[in-house]
Amino acid sequence: MDYRAVLNAAENDPEAFWLDAARALDWDGFPATAHDGDGDLWFPDGTINLCHNAVDRHVAAGRGDQAALIYESPITGKSASFSFRELLGRVSRTAGMLVDAGVGRGDRVVIYMPMVPEAVFAMLACARIGAVHSVVFGGFAAPELAKRIDDCQPVCVLSASCGLEPGRTIAYKPLLDHAIELCTHKPDSVIVLQRDELRAELTPNRDIDWHAAFFAARPVDCVPVRSTDPLYILYTSGTTGTPKGVVRDTGGYGTALAWSMEHIYGVGAGDVYWAASDIGWVVGHSYIVYGPLLAGCTSVLFEGKPVGTPDAGIFWRLIDKLRVKVLFTAPTAIRAIRRADPDGAFIAQSDLSSLQALFLAGERADPDTLNWIADLLHKPVIDHWWQTEIGWPAIATCHGLGESEIRPGSAGRAVPGFRFKVQDDNHREVDADKVGNLLIEQPLPPGAFRALWNNPEKFAAGFADFPGHYTSGDAGMIDADGFIHIMGRTDDIINVAGHRLSTGQMEEVVAAHPQAVECAVVGAADQLKGEMAVAFVVTRPDSGDRNAIRKELVASIRENIGPIASPRSVYFVDGLPKTRSGKILRNLLRAIVNDEEIVVPQTIEDPAVIDALIAQLAGAEAASG
Ligand code: COA
Ligand code: AMP
Repeated sequence: MDYRAVLNAAENDPEAFWLDAARALDWDGFPATAHDGDGDLWFPDGTINLCHNAVDRHVAAGRGDQAALIYESPITGKSASFSFRELLGRVSRTAGMLVDAGVGRGDRVVIYMPMVPEAVFAMLACARIGAVHSVVFGGFAAPELAKRIDDCQPVCVLSASCGLEPGRTIAYKPLLDHAIELCTHKPDSVIVLQRDELRAELTPNRDIDWHAAFFAARPVDCVPVRSTDPLYILYTSGTTGTPKGVVRDTGGYGTALAWSMEHIYGVGAGDVYWAASDIGWVVGHSYIVYGPLLAGCTSVLFEGKPVGTPDAGIFWRLIDKLRVKVLFTAPTAIRAIRRADPDGAFIAQSDLSSLQALFLAGERADPDTLNWIADLLHKPVIDHWWQTEIGWPAIATCHGLGESEIRPGSAGRAVPGFRFKVQDDNHREVDADKVGNLLIEQPLPPGAFRALWNNPEKFAAGFADFPGHYTSGDAGMIDADGFIHIMGRTDDIINVAGHRLSTGQMEEVVAAHPQAVECAVVGAADQLKGEMAVAFVVTRPDSGDRNAIRKELVASIRENIGPIASPRSVYFVDGLPKTRSGKILRNLLRAIVNDEEIVVPQTIEDPAVIDALIAQLAGAEAASG
């Protein structure tokens, strides 16, 4: 079936389409219905276990000796491969370790870990026993971890002694201890994986040594759960300092992922699939852990960077060594590689004959970068769009359906199951090629979020502005041929090196500085990272040494949010442009830092502030050389 036929099938009879897709999985109780219109639930009467589908059933089907997970860690110099049989042994015992720690069905488990195989075993182990994991990205600082622990109230926290970044070892234990100190909710136990690179001192009566607990545990079996039960909570940035806990269901998500592996990525059992992301992000959940393993692929777990571990050739050498069929990464990784290896010398040194396509997502793929890598690889380079809320690609070129037309600058066309619309702020549908709010018609297909943890109001708000539609928060346009172009966010979220961050949250941290009177943080275009934060700060009169304040502000953002949120610049200004009602005109600030046309709104309180601000910025740039 071609793309158009599949799109129509999903549109005309979603019930039959998704029930058919669900047959790709093993169910303990196959659902009689696909969608419950009243409750907006997928496969409401199905029972299933996703760990069984990702692990056990491949062993039962005779694929036990095939590599399931390959760990490549250029940063430690280690590699390891786990067959599906070995994965079953590790996961079922890790599940036993969790049961011994008192974790039961429905309990939450926070996983704050680097990119090591044990983190993947732990996610699958939670799924095995019906516990709900919440993975927190290792680059988040203690207060961010604390917010997540307090919100989801885990019985147990899983962590490691350290993570590794180029040139430095990050001790996780002090961060974890500090987070637990900050929390109102105290987990019953903390299980710590000791890594050779740095060992941690365990806290008596609370911390458990991972290896000891693992070897003392007995393997446990899969527990069938309701299709609608939560598989995980993944926190993502909203517009405020409070992260949103996206709740993912089980059967709908599994079905959507299995469908996407075949029809979007074009891979199946035995193929090697590599998503060079982090398990702390949705890409890691969907396409390092669940998607490839559900499909019986070999998944690559990469603990390294596209450059500097040790060089810009690491991606290509690993594709060659592991015979990777599909690579998925963020455009920023390609920009980093291009900067280090502009002529693609490393690419020429590797045998990339196994590679069938490179997929990009997480931020806009600028045509220049996309064309550069496509010319060097001579393979399809496919931009595709999705979000933590959506869980899997909603806009793509469906490579697995034989689609091949790529329009650089567009993320592709609607994936079957998704119905996109673009409307202006007055709810009028805009013409082809006109930019507006990118919306998805309800009901969202399987796999997309159906709740935010502890936050039904915020969840409802995502559907309130444009009734009957989910508001993506992105601005976009659809061209006459149905190709969708993403133009950027309509809210205060920015995308730094593929990481979604809230400028509102950064403003909260900056505003807490004793010398700050008011501030605004906006995203500025960045050649490497896509966007970076720029802070504007008005300080108290006689506030003292501004360089010292600047350093304190950067340190505070790193300590409160994490190093990934480090701003590129902090400007001290006399005033911020505001409306007469006192609202800061962030769009104007964004236009100024990005050298875009400045459109001064009628509602501005004092237009003179703009010229003063531009002059101050020019002075600051000149002073910094
Ligand atoms: N734990 C602790 N610290 C982390 C971290 C982690 N997991 N990840 C990043 N950091 C730190 C970095 O060490 C760096 O610290 P520094 O400011 O002290 O040097 C800071 O956070 C910023 O990191 P990053 O944004 O990764 O920038 P970089 O300059 O170190 O590397 C790239 C630039 C482009 C190579 C890198 O961002 C990259 O690999 N991007 C791909 C992103 C990606 O795959 N995103 C997933 C979405 S699909
Ligand atoms: P996250 O939830 O972290 O995956 O971030 C989702 C946001 O990243 C989207 O709302 C977009 O703003 C941006 N994004 C993701 N993929 C793309 C893409 N292919 N093109 C443009 N923006 C993207």
